[in-house]
Amino acid sequence: MPTTPPLVAVIMGSSSDWETMSVCVKTLDELGIANQAHVLSAHRTPDATAKFAREAADRGIRVMIAAAGGAAHLAGVISAHTWLPVLGVPIQSSALHGLDSLLSTAQMPGGIPVGTLAIGSAGAKNAALLAAAILAISDKKIRQNLQAFRKKQTEAVLAAKLPK
Ligand code: RP5
Repeated sequence: MPTTPPLVAVIMGSSSDWETMSVCVKTLDELGIANQAHVLSAHRTPDATAKFAREAADRGIRVMIAAAGGAAHLAGVISAHTWLPVLGVPIQSSALHGLDSLLSTAQMPGGIPVGTLAIGSAGAKNAALLAAAILAISDKKIRQNLQAFRKKQTEAVLAAKLPK
């Protein structure tokens, strides 16, 4: 059976980022969005990172999500090598609680954009939802899945019971 080619690439700087980024991949899976996840580092594997980013669009990738912690240059470096939209997830670091990751990811110089999400798992989840919204503009099935996700979420909030 032919497999669907991935539309979203989820890149993280270290396997230690997986606990956070598994939330992103799980959300993409829930929305029925074909994705692939890899460890690539702006600092530890710079050549492989640049090559991956340069070739992504030709391989059918439409949105790239990049997560890193500390001196988090990954999303910016990826954006430097592709015209695709790049969403950045700042990983919650132990030393500075992710503020370092947030500023490193968000404070790009004009000309090379990174759409930066919240620190940690909320950002990981929202990166998947934002990627879905970008794809939903031109993909009816993803649009329906995203709308169903939002409807279910709204219903769950309205049905919430407090312990009192
Ligand atoms: C970054 O350094 C990674 O994205 C990770 O968040 C952080 C620490 O990496 P490890 O030392 O755990 O591999 O590049």
